[in-house]
Amino acid sequence: MTSKKDLTVALLLGGTSPERDVSKSSASSIYKALTALGYKTILIDPAYGKHQPHKEEDFFAQKDFTEITNRNYVEAVDSKLFDDVDIAFLALHGKWGEDGTIQSLLELRGIKYTGSNIVSSAMSMDKIMSKILFKHYDINTPEWIGVNQHEKEIDVKKMIKDKFGFPCVIKPNDQGSTVGLTICKHEDELHKALKLARQYSNKILIEEYIPGREVTVGVLDNKALPVLEIKPKHGIYDYECKYTSGMSEYEVPANIPEWVQLELQSQSLKAFEALGCSVYGRLDFRLSNDFKTYCLEVNTLPGMTSTSLVPKMAKAAGISFEELIDKIIKLSLQ
Ligand SMILES: Nc1ncnc2c1ncn2[C@@H]1O[C@H](COP(=O)(O)OP(=O)(O)O)[C@@H](O)[C@H]1O
Ligand SMILES: [Mg+2]
Repeated sequence: MTSKKDLTVALLLGGTSPERDVSKSSASSIYKALTALGYKTILIDPAYGKHQPHKEEDFFAQKDFTEITNRNYVEAVDSKLFDDVDIAFLALHGKWGEDGTIQSLLELRGIKYTGSNIVSSAMSMDKIMSKILFKHYDINTPEWIGVNQHEKEIDVKKMIKDKFGFPCVIKPNDQGSTVGLTICKHEDELHKALKLARQYSNKILIEEYIPGREVTVGVLDNKALPVLEIKPKHGIYDYECKYTSGMSEYEVPANIPEWVQLELQSQSLKAFEALGCSVYGRLDFRLSNDFKTYCLEVNTLPGMTSTSLVPKMAKAAGISFEELIDKIIKLSLQ
């Protein structure tokens, strides 16, 4: 067996999605762990093409080192940067990084990468497609309507009223980090909410609003981790609550009856499998006050700072952050 010292890991970070900064935070923690574990690690920001920063700190800096474009991804993966790489550790989030795009480029170049494959990544990023599969496999999910660009607001309003009414949740079909999402309390707010979501996606997902609690389940190596409850300071787990320390409280294992925990874990494994995901991921749920579970989405490249949710759940299962990173690499190499 090859030892860690013989393995070169390319840690992919940054990217061009609205989650570029979140990705840098994930990468910074992963980089420390990889180094401590003894992996030979190189940093690559695909948004920079073949002209990468020479200094480590420039990868993590707020200011861009050079122009960033999606086209650069092709140039980066096709360049010498990847010549000696054994596996790419994907610390990217959102579009182009989490949706199967970078996975496709890496596969064409014959480079292994961490996490789910192309199709599973693409399907998980597409919230409507995921929900169609959830329904098919008896995984409970909020009722929904899919809306395209051409649909008139007046028709959308009627569809909402006919199906579940207000409040409802308006989200772009393929974004993360609660970007472009509105809890639409009243029909008067619909115009603004649709306009915002349309800035991010041609396809909009409108869901019935599920009052209750916010829970999430990590999956690692086909096993569900302990359930975590999020208690955001805002009513909704938005960008600020997700990434500002002190803006949310977390409880893991969640203070819920054991049968609910088991149900959430079993629904998570079913959803993970329905989408064909592998290695690791995180499933977001709403939990109603009468303990009905509603699966919202699968995150195939969840946040990975040492205080992110998957590392918290792993810790509750006795798996340290370094062990988690090591496991992800080993499982992805198989
Ligand atoms: N149907 C819903 N009912 C109640 N709250 C919701 C619903 N959908 C989303 N939310 C809130 O918005 C957050 C983000 O939604 P989610 O579907 O997980 O998208 P993202 O990819 O942005 O994380 C959730 O964590 C939850 O706080
Ligand atoms: Mg989510």
